[in-house]
Amino acid sequence: MTTRSKIVGTGSFVPEQVLTNRDLESMIDTSDEWITTRTGIKQRHIARPGENNSDLAVEASRAALSMAGIEPAELDLIIVGTLTGDMPMPSVACLVQDRLGAGHAGAFDVSATCSGFLYSLSIADKFIKDNPSMKILAIGSEVLSRRTNWNDRTTCVIFADGAGAAVVTGSDDEGGILSTCLHADGSVWELLTIRGLGTAHPIDQDIISKGWHYIEMKGRDVFKHAVKALESVAHEAMERAGWTNEDLDLLIAHQANIRILDFLRERLHLPKEKVFINIDKYGNTSAASIPIALDEANRSGRLKKGDNILMISFGGGFTWAGVTMRW
Ligand code: ACO
Repeated sequence: MTTRSKIVGTGSFVPEQVLTNRDLESMIDTSDEWITTRTGIKQRHIARPGENNSDLAVEASRAALSMAGIEPAELDLIIVGTLTGDMPMPSVACLVQDRLGAGHAGAFDVSATCSGFLYSLSIADKFIKDNPSMKILAIGSEVLSRRTNWNDRTTCVIFADGAGAAVVTGSDDEGGILSTCLHADGSVWELLTIRGLGTAHPIDQDIISKGWHYIEMKGRDVFKHAVKALESVAHEAMERAGWTNEDLDLLIAHQANIRILDFLRERLHLPKEKVFINIDKYGNTSAASIPIALDEANRSGRLKKGDNILMISFGGGFTWAGVTMRW
């Protein structure tokens, strides 16, 4: 019998405050029609002042732990994929560990932008293969609204806030993670970046006046790279699991753009009902998008025991990843 890493609980949380396309029409030169047709987004959730990344991550984690029936004190490891931590030090994972009361579980953040959750889940999988009794919390959590230039219509209509979490442990039943694939290409980092506030460009008036503390994205170029990488990693992850497209029950792809999701559906020859979509409600929440979608699919009864699920992501760096699992 093979011991696999299995997700035994999922949770998600988004801030209460909703910002609709109509709201954005009164803030910048845009329209509900442009945003809907170009991105698929109708609304997004935005954290209120004082509501931080770790607050969202803690709520999502509590929901996942409660579903799993696991106490925070039983956790061995907490891994958070994020690009918008509360502060450079400590990590979001350490803040979550303290707030949950997770004993002295190890805790660290993973910097892999929109692939942060799949990178975290893949790391969790490796730890569990080494020691199947481990209980690990893999999280994706972002407050992108604080790294968004609200005068830049090419990005501010897209990015949003939220968190998702999964509890992972070893299991001998038929479900679990079958394959993980991680990739990156740092040579084109300038296409999607937050240049400032790191050690290369520490905070000063010049950096702020240039807007280098905000997300900058060459959307059209990113789009071209994203569709190619996502299609390729989908095939790679399925091949490693021994699947063809026909074996797939649900594709959960990073919710970056409805046109990317439509492209993938066509290229992978999938019917509409096999591609999960919630970008209309949440926008692009980067590392949080896949675990939020996974939790929604799980809680709505869309995931059945034995289903074959493919998760794929693409983001700044560039990073991209694919994970297959049997539910
Ligand atoms: N409202 C109205 N018009 C707009 C807006 C807006 N919000 N934003 C841009 N436009 C205009 C542009 O100025 C441009 O006008 P022009 O032709 O007069 O110059 C026109 O619309 C077309 O602009 P494009 O940038 O070519 O629009 P595109 O169709 O490519 O859509 C988008 C832009 C949505 C950003 C798309 O390129 C995209 O989704 N890219 C990929 C994003 C992605 O996958 N990111 C990776 C993950 S995110 C992460 O890692 C954090």
